[in-house]
Amino acid sequence: MNEQAEPDVLAMAGQPGGRAAAQAAAQAGAQAAESGPGATRAVVVGTGHYLPERVVPNAEFAERLDTSNEWIVSRSGIERRHFAAPGESTSHMAAHAARAALSDAGLTPDALDAIIVATSTPDLTFPAVATMVQAELGLKTGFAFDVQAVCAGFIYALAQAHALIVAGTARRVMVIGAETFSRILDHEDRGTAVLFGDGAGALILEARGGTGASTDRGILSVDLNADGSQRDILYVDGGVATTGTAGCLRMQGKEVFRHAVEKLASTASTAIRRAGLDAAQVDWVVPHQANLRIIRATAQKLGVPMERVITTVADHGNTSAASIPLALSVAAGEGRFAPGQVIVAEAIGGGLAWGAVVLRW
Ligand code: COA
Repeated sequence: MNEQAEPDVLAMAGQPGGRAAAQAAAQAGAQAAESGPGATRAVVVGTGHYLPERVVPNAEFAERLDTSNEWIVSRSGIERRHFAAPGESTSHMAAHAARAALSDAGLTPDALDAIIVATSTPDLTFPAVATMVQAELGLKTGFAFDVQAVCAGFIYALAQAHALIVAGTARRVMVIGAETFSRILDHEDRGTAVLFGDGAGALILEARGGTGASTDRGILSVDLNADGSQRDILYVDGGVATTGTAGCLRMQGKEVFRHAVEKLASTASTAIRRAGLDAAQVDWVVPHQANLRIIRATAQKLGVPMERVITTVADHGNTSAASIPLALSVAAGEGRFAPGQVIVAEAIGGGLAWGAVVLRW
């Protein structure tokens, strides 16, 4: 949206029925910005990831909980996950992923203007994990902050990086998703303990000139959503201002499942449409890796065959904000993406918060 359009939109929002009108105007403005001449694009120039050494197969849970490999695989598609070692933290994993992405891009840390880390499992309440990564990389320049939108965190962080680049605030942004979910699991609860894992993935986005058309490389559209009235279906039962503890993850799995398929298909469709594309033009879907059944059902709703969907959930489990950059980095490392291909990333998680990003590789 340009600066002149903004007061009109704000004025509209204050009038009766003005919220919908303001949203429509803001969306039109966003679309104009996305398709206007000489658009700045945020293009992916490097990817990297890190997984802790320890692999935990389903059989390990079957030894001590009333569960089985068959149940876990058939209900979730998960076969194994990685758990961080004692002493290994979110910032360590994030820094490993960041170094891998820098090496992939052929850049040194001083090329970065900003670092954004999406996480719900920070090392400390503050400072931000992103500043710890900055220090690990030996940087004292630029800025760094965390984004907390649980499993949708990486989509929200990408949206922030995109906005910073389009606004000219930053030219090169490291966007990381990193989680140590093993530290907030109730390891006695078979309904959640078997589903999550630890890891980190990173992308570097760089400002490049585009024509403004959907043929440009880089981020083409973003769609973000939240509904705080659904907080009780997926949350952590502790926190700084309440219990003073980190707490444990609690989930009503069936309810989350029900919301997930519908909202993921809807947000991905919106982002695809906003990019000026249709599902037939999508080369790859990189979904949040929570559950293979959710991934399949969403792809079916979108009309995208599973051959065009990247899945790493079998090997990583649900790594929350880390799952999309992990999947992107693994797939990129396998040479699966060709320059110019259209990728849709979509995620949903606690909040509820959900969203999608369409980008051209
Ligand atoms: N092993 C064996 N049985 C288990 C189990 C496990 N690990 N976890 C739960 N069960 C049991 C339940 O207790 C329930 O038993 P009951 O019928 O006696 O009460 C039974 O399996 C069926 O549970 P249900 O919840 O109906 O299974 P489901 O098919 O919905 O699958 C999930 C459960 C959690 C895999 C599924 O609901 C899911 O994936 N939800 C979304 C979760 C998610 O993605 N969250 C993160 C979003 S970011």
